[in-house]
Amino acid sequence: MHKIAVIPGDGTGPEVVREGLKVLDAAGKKFGFKYETKEFDFSGKRYIKTGKLVDDKDVEELKKYNAIYLGAVGDPDVKPGIMEAGVLLKLRFALDQFINLRPVKLYNAAFCPLKDKKPQDIDFVVVRENSEGLYKGLGEFQKKGTKDEVAIQISHNTRKGVERCIRYAFEFTRKRNKRNQLTLCGKTNVLTFAWDLWQRTFNEVAKDYPDIKTDYAHVDATTMWFVKNPEWFDVIVTDNMFGDIITDLGAMIQGGMGIAAGGNINPQGVSMFEPIGGSAPKYTGKNVINPLAAICALGMLLENIGEVKAGKAVEDAVIKIVQHKMKSLAAGKMGYSTTEVGDLVVKNL
Ligand code: IPM
Ligand code: MN
Repeated sequence: MHKIAVIPGDGTGPEVVREGLKVLDAAGKKFGFKYETKEFDFSGKRYIKTGKLVDDKDVEELKKYNAIYLGAVGDPDVKPGIMEAGVLLKLRFALDQFINLRPVKLYNAAFCPLKDKKPQDIDFVVVRENSEGLYKGLGEFQKKGTKDEVAIQISHNTRKGVERCIRYAFEFTRKRNKRNQLTLCGKTNVLTFAWDLWQRTFNEVAKDYPDIKTDYAHVDATTMWFVKNPEWFDVIVTDNMFGDIITDLGAMIQGGMGIAAGGNINPQGVSMFEPIGGSAPKYTGKNVINPLAAICALGMLLENIGEVKAGKAVEDAVIKIVQHKMKSLAAGKMGYSTTEVGDLVVKNL
């Protein structure tokens, strides 16, 4: 019996999660696995009413689950940063989900903004460090509010934190067994403390993986290659901030936020799967948001809890409808409502 914690969250989160759960139900019946879900309300609406975010008791409760399924975080009525830090980052850190795994895969060339790029050209995975770097929240103001104000924001990188991320990326590349190529994406030419540590660690760990080809690209150049030659990439490993930035670009070249999914992974603990787009407040409650990113996240969740066949089937069903049914992957332009897209995935499972 799989225990799945569901956090619908804010904005369109509940709508896309509902479609994901529809697909989960169908996958359970088809592949014969049992599961139970429990919903957790960590929304902005609840915060406004009660002042509550995710507390340590919630974290202990969530540790009893096999996986977490998250919709979206961010309420326009709550000051920016509060829900992000109090829910999303709190969960990533407290559950030590130190990898953010973000596949970038084009399912239909018609939805790619790049000229002449085909599905075989855009198929790589970004392994984003998810527990350190600039996201650690270290820094300070000096002389705040004066004309001599200084704001310091520190990127905190530990050898252990960097190494576990890089090791995960090498293992992942080997297991993926596609082109067996791992690219370190950094900024060794300017950020000479952090990226010296990353580069040294990468070189050392690489010795344990002679079967994996390695290379390096600066983060600015990486964004250029994403547009120019995305086919050069197989697996990319990078830090938290760079991973955040390049995966939004990645999402665009795979067809947009409507299709991009990711997993916050703790290989020994509880992982959390989410569509990587935000809560899209302007589309909330209109039944127009694309649920496919959330459904792809569900596919990743299923693979993570050992229902590999079901996870692959969910992805295959998504591919089918992206190739043959969807008019667009953008909200309101799909040719179908949110619920109809969910139904289509179920029908094609
Ligand atoms: C993401 C988001 C988050 C991040 C925000 C909402 C805190 O942009 O998951 O990529 O910066 O990691
Ligand atoms: Mn982001």
